[in-house]
Amino acid sequence: MKVILAYSGGLDTSASVIWLKRVKKFDQVVAVLVDVGQRDDFDALRERALMLGADDVVVVDQKSAMCEQGIAPMLKVGATYEGSYLLGTAIARPFIADAMVEAALETGAGAICHGATGKGNDYLRFEQRIKVLAPGIQIISPWREWACGDREQALALIADTGVSIPAKSFDYSIDANLWHTSYEGGSLEDLSQAPPPFFREEMHKEGVAEVQLVWEKGLPVALNGRDMPLAEMIPALNELLAPTAYGWLDLLETRTNGLKSRGIYHTPAGTLLYEARTALSQCWLAKPSLDFLEGMGQTYGKFLYEGIWQHPVQHAIEAATDALFAETQGTIDLVVKGAKAQVLARTANPNCFASELGGFGHMDSWNAAYSEALVFFQHLKYHSLPAGVGIREPD
Ligand code: ARG
Ligand code: SIN
Repeated sequence: MKVILAYSGGLDTSASVIWLKRVKKFDQVVAVLVDVGQRDDFDALRERALMLGADDVVVVDQKSAMCEQGIAPMLKVGATYEGSYLLGTAIARPFIADAMVEAALETGAGAICHGATGKGNDYLRFEQRIKVLAPGIQIISPWREWACGDREQALALIADTGVSIPAKSFDYSIDANLWHTSYEGGSLEDLSQAPPPFFREEMHKEGVAEVQLVWEKGLPVALNGRDMPLAEMIPALNELLAPTAYGWLDLLETRTNGLKSRGIYHTPAGTLLYEARTALSQCWLAKPSLDFLEGMGQTYGKFLYEGIWQHPVQHAIEAATDALFAETQGTIDLVVKGAKAQVLARTANPNCFASELGGFGHMDSWNAAYSEALVFFQHLKYHSLPAGVGIREPD
């Protein structure tokens, strides 16, 4: 039987090539390397897989798909998990799973193997998506069978192949793609310790970046005067923000299984796009729409975090979000200094900020009776009607 391996080029998935052949007795291993913007040397990783005995290596570029079908709806609705995680790992997983399933269907493979542990979220994301797309396919998780992650065992497996994988100079796990880089595990699990010097240096950079973004229908379409698709804009914006300390998040989050985990996330472009979106939405949308959107962003983010993708609820949220932003257009200027971004200027269409009504100076179009009436009705609503409990007579 043929097996598809989600291959990243790291020690675990490298050792898995050999394990799948020698221990699991697959005749053929097809290593699928999915490019989600992680900037690895794909040629070198392809060579390594072949040296390890992979029968074929397929590199699949999912950057545009991930941006257009994943990041775009997520950004439009403002999806977050636990209020601040911008879902960088979560959003890549369905696109990695899609590439594996497609490779399995194309090559007639009967099994898909992934290297996620069974303690995080990624196995859920991979396996649920695979089950939806290819219910009959066998899923293999080396971690469940040989404690993949044990460095000595993994090194022993590759020992006679001539492949050497340089030891890392840090003990945490890194997951990178074009939206973010995440760091977790190892010494980061000790909450009583400050993050290692690398992080503290990054988080204290003092650089400055000036950014102008043009938005159409709830999404950015131009950066500093140049039209570009998201797949180009995100790396370009990350580049601009590189001298700054912007976009770091040190979060204690709750995994789907309930365990708490400490993650350090670097999402420079993403964080700035979210900030710009919020600032423009404040102009574009009135209060009921903003409140509705906030709820939808939480729901969308939770589904995504838990590895649910293309659920009808997510489609409903996407349709509602598209409708809210259908007629919107705007330009925003921001300056980033160190770890902070500041909105300098916004033009938005439509613009709910009606300065002729809202400005304190304009009394002509404002009837003084409005304010008294509002006090009357607020008092009626909150204090005067019998509420059963909570209303006390003044002493
Ligand atoms: N905790 C994050 C999530 O569930 C990131 C997980 C992957 N990160 C890593 N460094 N391996 O989305
Ligand atoms: C892993 O456990 O394999 C990576 C982290 C995660 O799944 O959340």
